[in-house]
Amino acid sequence: MPDLLAIVDDGPGAKQLMSVARSYFTIEIVESATLCDATDLPDGDLYVDVDLGDGALVSSLRRMLTARRSNGRMIFAVPRGVHAAMVQAYALGATDLVPLPIGPAQLAQRLSTALSLLPGNSTDATSAAGAQALVDGAGVLRSIFAAARGVGQIDLAFLGHASQAVADTIADEGFGRWIATVQRHHHGTFQHSLLVAGGAAAFGHHLGMRRSDVERLATAGLLHDIGKARVPLEILDKVTRLTEAEMAVMRSHTVIGHDILSTRSDVPAELLDVVRHHHEYLDGSGYPDGLTAAEIPDLVRVVTITDVFAALIERRSYKRPLPGPVAFEIVHGMSGRLEEALIRAFRPVAMSVSAP
Ligand SMILES: [Fe+2]
Ligand SMILES: [Fe+2]
Repeated sequence: MPDLLAIVDDGPGAKQLMSVARSYFTIEIVESATLCDATDLPDGDLYVDVDLGDGALVSSLRRMLTARRSNGRMIFAVPRGVHAAMVQAYALGATDLVPLPIGPAQLAQRLSTALSLLPGNSTDATSAAGAQALVDGAGVLRSIFAAARGVGQIDLAFLGHASQAVADTIADEGFGRWIATVQRHHHGTFQHSLLVAGGAAAFGHHLGMRRSDVERLATAGLLHDIGKARVPLEILDKVTRLTEAEMAVMRSHTVIGHDILSTRSDVPAELLDVVRHHHEYLDGSGYPDGLTAAEIPDLVRVVTITDVFAALIERRSYKRPLPGPVAFEIVHGMSGRLEEALIRAFRPVAMSVSAP
């Protein structure tokens, strides 16, 4: 079943925008011209970008929408500031509005915000603040991964906002609850990056870092694997062991991510270091540059420990997530490659992660 059914007309940009958004969601597109009174719209979420001034079309839409058994989200695209269109959209049952014109990355972001957490999908383990932090975090990941593929720009203000939301949620509710929320809604690299963001923030919080440093850690977690946006899915999602050649491609995500971010002048050097060096080990056995202890900054060391831990507690289709204490033992066994004192400091954070 697609994430979204889109009803679009041949208005400016509608199809082009939807084809871009298609990279992020499974979208079934229906052209409004093909709709007729006998059309049965499926249940689920809808995106509607049609001329709401077209009376005949609006009345067929109204019939079709009222005939649906259950209403999901209904996201309507309306020209910015056109009051009549907004009123019409709400009259048809819109739950969210997207103002036009809108760029592809912003559209993907708006849709993901509207769709990430639907009422009824959340359980009581997810607080409103946690849900919002997740929507923000996932929205940022979608937009930065899109930017890494050449669609739109990385919005550092949005990234900062999402990092604050993650840091707030971790401070208020703890890492364990964040993990449960993330794992219910996300998988793959997004799950991983959200867990690293939350884990790094929890680590910083536990170490008594300043609030701004905790947020910086959350940002580092969200950004660290941005280079994976350019690693083919068949390698990223491969269930069996990677070949040497595939491993080389996978490992290139560090350099790719660094290259993507270093084209900008406003990404702090410490974040560039995290993206490039989060797989380096103190004994020089890591990649891509084989750095040794003295060359690896503190922020990177913290992210590396969290990154290893997050990979172990992740829920994947082919592997059971490890409980925190078991994952911690594995991290602990890596002293020599990871900083001993930091591993010790990480223990309480890891132990707070209960068995899934
Ligand atoms: Fe990585
Ligand atoms: Fe990672």
